[in-house]
Amino acid sequence: MTVLPYKDKEGSKKEQVAEMFNSISKRYDFLNHFLSMGIDILWRKKAISLLKADKPKLILDVATGTGDLAIESLKLNPDKVIGVDISEGMLEMGRAKMKRLGYDHKIEMTMGDSEQLLFDDNKFDAVVVAFGVRNFQNLEKGLEDMRRVLKDGGKVVILEFSNPTAFPMKQLYSFYSNAILPLIGKMVSKDSSAYTYLPESVQEFPFGDDFLAILDKLGFKETKCIPLTFGISSIYTAVK
Ligand SMILES: C[S@@+](CC[C@H](N)C(=O)[O-])C[C@H]1O[C@@H](n2cnc3c(N)ncnc32)[C@H](O)[C@@H]1O
Repeated sequence: MTVLPYKDKEGSKKEQVAEMFNSISKRYDFLNHFLSMGIDILWRKKAISLLKADKPKLILDVATGTGDLAIESLKLNPDKVIGVDISEGMLEMGRAKMKRLGYDHKIEMTMGDSEQLLFDDNKFDAVVVAFGVRNFQNLEKGLEDMRRVLKDGGKVVILEFSNPTAFPMKQLYSFYSNAILPLIGKMVSKDSSAYTYLPESVQEFPFGDDFLAILDKLGFKETKCIPLTFGISSIYTAVK
């Protein structure tokens, strides 16, 4: 089943996702950190730390949004990071952030669809993505294209929400994400759908072994899953 941000509107998932992120872009960073109590920052740090030994020089940040994962990836001392996103609103906020922080010479934020990347095969040393793949219209197409632009031996690091499975975290998290999160999200972002779409899309999204099976099927090697914070999120790594 495809979970759409706006159930009563026309348009593909991709169009609706871009519209939703355009609508919440100005409040996105605040809400992200507030609703996760800052844990999202630690998750991104952990994800990027998994690339330390690889020393990637050219990094692609897929579904970059306002660029927080791209910024974190500067810790790896790359020559360049390219972030792509389909939401002009998110990119605008990201570009302003890069300028403000003086990172605009290293991080390029460009409009682009992760399911149809406009880059040559075997271009990047590493491809990273945080909270992006769940929003793809066609998950396999997006993952396939990430693999295509990755150099042989290059690593992909995917950070995405998953679902805690053990008592009592499963119950607590379900209450938080279905009751509290949509309420605060609606109040702050003024978009009544965005923060109901979040738990609904997480619920439907493959995680753990199911997600690894998709990566395996697409030809990735050395696929691994690291659950974070009782399984609220997971990091998947794989090699081309
Ligand atoms: C939850 S945000 C994550 C942003 C950022 N990576 C972060 O860690 O905060 C998801 C982003 O994915 C983008 N997105 C969704 N589908 C996409 C696609 N097919 N191609 C590029 N970006 C996409 C959205 O526009 C949005 O900015």
